[in-house]
Amino acid sequence: MTAPTAARTDRTEPPLNPRDFEAAARTRLDRPVFDYIAGGSGDEVTLREDRAAYARYRLRPRALVDVSRCEPATTLLGRPVAFPVGIAPMAYHQLVHPDGETATVRAAGTVGALTVASTFASTSLEEIARAATGPLWLQVYVMRRREITASLVRRAEAAGYQALVITVDTPRMARRERDLRNGFRLPPHIRPANLDEDHDTGLYQGRAGSSTLAAHAARHHDAAFTWDDLAWLRSLTGLPLVLKGVLTAEDARRAATLGVAGLIVSTHGGRQLDGTVPALEALPEVVAAAGDRCEVLVDGGVRRGTDVLKALALGARAVLVGRPVLWGLAVDGEAGVERVLATLRDELEEAMALTGRPRLDTLAPDLLHRSTDRPYPTTDDREPA
Ligand SMILES: Cc1cc2nc3c(=O)[nH]c(=O)nc-3n(C[C@H](O)[C@H](O)[C@H](O)COP(=O)(O)O)c2cc1C
Repeated sequence: MTAPTAARTDRTEPPLNPRDFEAAARTRLDRPVFDYIAGGSGDEVTLREDRAAYARYRLRPRALVDVSRCEPATTLLGRPVAFPVGIAPMAYHQLVHPDGETATVRAAGTVGALTVASTFASTSLEEIARAATGPLWLQVYVMRRREITASLVRRAEAAGYQALVITVDTPRMARRERDLRNGFRLPPHIRPANLDEDHDTGLYQGRAGSSTLAAHAARHHDAAFTWDDLAWLRSLTGLPLVLKGVLTAEDARRAATLGVAGLIVSTHGGRQLDGTVPALEALPEVVAAAGDRCEVLVDGGVRRGTDVLKALALGARAVLVGRPVLWGLAVDGEAGVERVLATLRDELEEAMALTGRPRLDTLAPDLLHRSTDRPYPTTDDREPA
């Protein structure tokens, strides 16, 4: 029996939500590029579970509350944002649109959202900063050649980035079988614009059964980077440090003790270790362990305003979204990204009104009922990957 789902959108109609943008992007992108973005590692269990975790929580709305004004604005590391949804760091935006990261960061600025730019951006971090009008953080991978990381940190500080996000779940890149099957490689006109050209070696000559990005990460990522080395990073910069990819209370406590300002609870969108606890389910223990010492964000599978509400009710200060931003960019450049972000903002405001929670500081676990049933069907069910 087919599960009941929301009415299927005619593909010629304008996309209304991230899923519609994904369907539209699928028709525009080459299969290996679509798969590189959509896919996860291993059996893609964590990719699916990150989504399913949101569906397990049902909302407990309160009635007869004055919701004539709902206020989604907040702050992140002391800077105002118009609503608690930011753009997750993602490599190579030019894979889906020639305007790449410039379009993305402009769209975020227009709606007042945070952007986290990736080390592997296809636009230089300085150009991204020039196009930014909203808050901007840089995601940093720690490279074997430490001087590369040190130079990224210094350039970020000089360009006006306000925080550094250190991704801690990628000492090596996990096997992503879609990329292996497709022999994924970068098209020749796209390069890691933040790195010297000697980094480009091997990114372009692929073959079935291997991914040049995975081979590149194996050569350059520093798998020996540990907690002890965080002090080295701290010594390079006064910018706040945020760790991305923390999933346990133990790591959250350790980070907080070391003066880390923020944590992003994340499975890397199901692209690293497959079979982890879903990010949303790891969130409460990380929030409890961090206390008021770190701001805690979460990403992975956020597709609706009600998802944002659920994450905030479980203690997140904000969420990041990844793939939906690239689907918006693929479909309509800067305007597409703006529509994806504005839709999430509008849905969040609607959800605040309809649950009787007009202010973010009233969001708490009592908003949620955790069901032990199957997750309710979502629009995800309508289209197998
Ligand atoms: C195409 C793609 C590229 C990514 N590149 C990076 C990256 O360079 N650095 C990083 O820390 N995370 C990277 N991520 C992970 C995202 O930051 C984020 O954790 C994840 O996409 C969130 O899940 P969502 O896509 O379901 O919203 C990437 C994700 C995707 C889909």
